[in-house]
Amino acid sequence: MIKGVDIIFGLSWGDEGKGKISNAISKNYDMVCRWNGGPNAGHTVYINDKKYKTHIIPCGVFQNKISVIGPNCVINIDKFFDEIEYLEKEGFDTSLIKVSPRTHIITEKHIEYDLKFLKPKLGTTGQGIAPAYADKMLRIGKTADSYLEKKYIWDGVLNGNVLCEGAQSFWLDINYGDYPYVTSSETLPYSACSLGFSPKKIRNIIGVAKIYDTKSGVDPLFPESLWNDEELSMVIETGKEFGSTTGRKRIANWLNLTKLIDAIRISGVNKLIINKCDILEQINTYKVYQNNSLYKFNTLQAMQFFIKSQINHAINDHIEITFSGNKSFI
Ligand code: IMP
Ligand code: MG
Repeated sequence: MIKGVDIIFGLSWGDEGKGKISNAISKNYDMVCRWNGGPNAGHTVYINDKKYKTHIIPCGVFQNKISVIGPNCVINIDKFFDEIEYLEKEGFDTSLIKVSPRTHIITEKHIEYDLKFLKPKLGTTGQGIAPAYADKMLRIGKTADSYLEKKYIWDGVLNGNVLCEGAQSFWLDINYGDYPYVTSSETLPYSACSLGFSPKKIRNIIGVAKIYDTKSGVDPLFPESLWNDEELSMVIETGKEFGSTTGRKRIANWLNLTKLIDAIRISGVNKLIINKCDILEQINTYKVYQNNSLYKFNTLQAMQFFIKSQINHAINDHIEITFSGNKSFI
């Protein structure tokens, strides 16, 4: 029986450091489940100072928890087994990893199509994500049940305290993001119910943002000219803003608070974590956009006070706001 469900997801364009936070809190749960996306995601977590990277397997496996890949995800079987082998070698219990029989399969053809037609135009991760979801919608997709041994197949039962772990974040959502500069899945908490629970079971919706914005891949909201900005270049270098799946240099901009408030309102966040505050502290520059105006502050505290009061003013419900540094959750 499900005791309760908490959902953690990103409020920006991905890369908010939600993997580290998810890993840190997953010890409090019985199951950790992914509901969207596939190997386009990249989680970087640290266990006892050692760095681990995964793309598809939820970080519950690092904390000895049942880790589920849900029916609304897409999976590359070869990469899945690479990840299993990697985790096994590192001493983690891979018998905890389960895949929904309904999860759709990414094939070589999907990757070829993505690399040829989508990556050059949209800056996708080239993992075959969109073509795999397209085949699912066309009802010609292939599902995990015919590709995986029984021991990896999830029985569809959720039990105890469940943590749902989002990938790709709010502004990459297929419905709410800046289409077509989005990914092909639903990244908002509403979509976590595709794992098979009622919305009534949701206790907490934990949204993770970053104190500055970044984007990997093409997006008119993040023109490449932003790379010429000296302070923003320092943000990229100091924050190590390079894609964990693609290695690409991300494009940075100052936090767009107007968009963040929209994301909080639409997704129903009751706990907000604003991450990587230490990066702005290191470069001693504090700027934020609100309603198309750029505000500049002398201290991190002044910027945080502004952000907090704008959010509290705009959102009627109580929101617990935590400011954190990149290493706070390691
Ligand atoms: P796709 O998901 O590979 O189709 O890529 C579509 C867009 O989403 C591109 O702009 C990617 O850079 C971006 N994207 C996909 N997955 C992630 C992620 O996990 N973090 C950040 N950006 C992502
Ligand atoms: Mg990531």
